[in-house]
Amino acid sequence: MIRLVFDFPYDTSLGQNVRDKVNGEKGRFLMRTFPDGETYVRLESLVSGRDVVINASFVHANDWFLNLLFLADALHSQGARRVGLLAPYLSYMRQDTVFHPGEAVTSKTFARLISTYFDYLITIDPHLHRYHSLSEIYSIPSTVLHAAPLISEWIHQHVEAPFLIGPDGESAQWVKAIAREIPFVVLNKVRHEDGRVEISWPPLEDLGEKTPIFVDDIISSGATMLQAVKHLKGLTTVKPICIAVHPIFADNSYQKLQEVGVERIVTCNSIPHPSNEIDVSSICVEALKF
Ligand code: R5P
Repeated sequence: MIRLVFDFPYDTSLGQNVRDKVNGEKGRFLMRTFPDGETYVRLESLVSGRDVVINASFVHANDWFLNLLFLADALHSQGARRVGLLAPYLSYMRQDTVFHPGEAVTSKTFARLISTYFDYLITIDPHLHRYHSLSEIYSIPSTVLHAAPLISEWIHQHVEAPFLIGPDGESAQWVKAIAREIPFVVLNKVRHEDGRVEISWPPLEDLGEKTPIFVDDIISSGATMLQAVKHLKGLTTVKPICIAVHPIFADNSYQKLQEVGVERIVTCNSIPHPSNEIDVSSICVEALKF
């Protein structure tokens, strides 16, 4: 079993919870910046012959991605047996095709780099839309975990009469997995080039006293959730709950969503955020046992 777990670039509750569950040791290293802006790295943990995993959630990863590769490469060159990547949120999954002539398919470049420096990848609900599997772009073994059972459990524990809403066609896979016997509807979304989204609802039966729960994999700019929530007005007076696996919340989208009349915003701790209420460490630990 893996017991040496590094957190990068900062400590997270998820990393600590994983270590607690596997009786793991925290990987220690020193990293600082030279006056010319280059990075200095020194491992403080002995890694020779050990199975090591780096827990790194790839939000705003451009700022530290090169340093992550330096760390992974240092682990290899100092004798780590295997260097795994636990990426609870995996970035660069949405540019999965050429939408306009000349565009770079960054998902492929990113996957090639990760596949060069790591021995395997574990992630949670990656945005698989045009790719059906990570193996289409990652050449290392990858494990995809799903937060749906944990989200389902949260809903059953906290909401008496839920009604699930997927804000767009892509969310249907998550909504169906979470719903089980809960009634649900999936909306239709069109995203314009300037980032605006338009959402249309199918005809709905009276929601009565049911609590509307919007479920999506990612809240990034918040445009999808905001539009979906705004359209709910007129259909029910019960304030909705918004649940997302990955809380990116760019700019002030978290605040905007709070102001639009949402009862509660609940997310998984795949990315550290004040809205984290669902701990995904149990599923990560299962995967780390292989
Ligand atoms: C579909 O595209 C995804 O499932 C999410 O709906 C989307 O990433 C959310 O992005 P934003 O918060 O920027 O609307």
